[in-house]
Amino acid sequence: MGRISLPENGMNKEDVLSRLESFKSDDVKWHDGQLFGLIYEAGQDVEDLVKEAHSLFLIENGLSPMAFPSLVKMETEVVSIVTALSGGDDETVGNITSGGTESIFMAMKAARDWARETYPNIVKPEMVVPVTAHPAWNKAAHYLGLKINMTPVKDDLRADVAAMENALTENTIILGGTAVTYPHGMIDPIEEIGRLAREDNLWLHVDACLGGLMLPFLKKLGNDIGPYDFSVPGVTSISADIHKYAYTPKGVSTVMYRKRDFRKFQIFAYADWPGGVYATPCLAGGRPGGNIAAAWAVFQYLGEQGFLALAKKARTAAEKLMDGINAMPQLCVLGEPRATVFAFGSDEINIYELAARMAERGWHIDAQHLPPSLHMTVSPIHLAAADKFLVDLRHTIPEVPPADSEELSEPAAMYAMLGTMPDRKMAKEFAVEYINDLYRVS
Ligand SMILES: Cc1ncc(COP(=O)(O)O)c(C=O)c1O
Repeated sequence: MGRISLPENGMNKEDVLSRLESFKSDDVKWHDGQLFGLIYEAGQDVEDLVKEAHSLFLIENGLSPMAFPSLVKMETEVVSIVTALSGGDDETVGNITSGGTESIFMAMKAARDWARETYPNIVKPEMVVPVTAHPAWNKAAHYLGLKINMTPVKDDLRADVAAMENALTENTIILGGTAVTYPHGMIDPIEEIGRLAREDNLWLHVDACLGGLMLPFLKKLGNDIGPYDFSVPGVTSISADIHKYAYTPKGVSTVMYRKRDFRKFQIFAYADWPGGVYATPCLAGGRPGGNIAAAWAVFQYLGEQGFLALAKKARTAAEKLMDGINAMPQLCVLGEPRATVFAFGSDEINIYELAARMAERGWHIDAQHLPPSLHMTVSPIHLAAADKFLVDLRHTIPEVPPADSEELSEPAAMYAMLGTMPDRKMAKEFAVEYINDLYRVS
């Protein structure tokens, strides 16, 4: 195993920066819209703004509201904007977290601790969540000692609420729904799940990490987006990521609660530390001020009209891509996605090999399974890239072997193998080994 130690003498600044720049050479080229996921790009002006706003508060620490009231002001204003966009009212509260995973984690922790007080007889709490929910839910369940029961989705790839009802046990405390699901871009029937939550007084968390800052604008533009937010009775908490469709650097999300009484279960306080009374709203201790400032800046800079224009661009790009893909006889978009995220598959050609061949043309598309498909998270900048993508796709299809071909390139074969391995425990172990191996100096 390699080892890198601290250099004896420092390098000059120019050399450090040029080394950093050189590290990017093997990274995916995302600026031209060649990546569908991971990065949400609105354009150069927004990127420049968030960079400047971020660097103004780069060093400030969100841990201390006393030392940095500026960050508390910006955080509460950002949360107020996002709660208003999420159907909240004067009672709705929330915080900025480091991302969707932390937001979901905090909501699950609050729900668990609420249930400890509300249902003291439940010692083995459970939650019921559709299989299309993001793995952040499984991670939260794992860390928090909650049993997670995953229920199937219907043919339209949205939560099957009858299956959720059947999965309820006397230990169930939490129900989950997602708007927009990552794998297929669907909006779960939150109103129906809300009814279920109210019947049994369960905590309902809506994961709007992906859709929270896109759906309100698509709705205003006249798209058919059903109710999914605090306007639905029974919704207790919502997560909405700012670092997705509000285009900030990674590390900014919001977790919101219908009322203060629920948020108190999120907060951690320890009063007996020699370092003083310690209390934090979320998981992190120190929190990057730059991220909070970037979030505040993007809302002020774009305003409602700016967000509407970007939502329109992203949806137009998604429609163009979906129509173009559906027009290719070998390919088919899964379900009827209403927002800016979708997946497509094929009964005829090997979809993983298609991704591998498109990668040779510079397009980075993530592979999915159950069923095999390719993932497309569409950003406003994809409007300019959509035609080129469709041309490349059309040219690539004839090179791709049939769906059941065993003659696949290495990345396609690897993904096909992992997706179809009947022993899912083995697939999990493989993934752990992969990560364990990856993070070491080579
Ligand atoms: C629906 C949904 N929930 C949660 C997450 C997790 O967010 P993060 O990667 O910011 O932790 C994602 C990420 O893509 C998502 O799409």
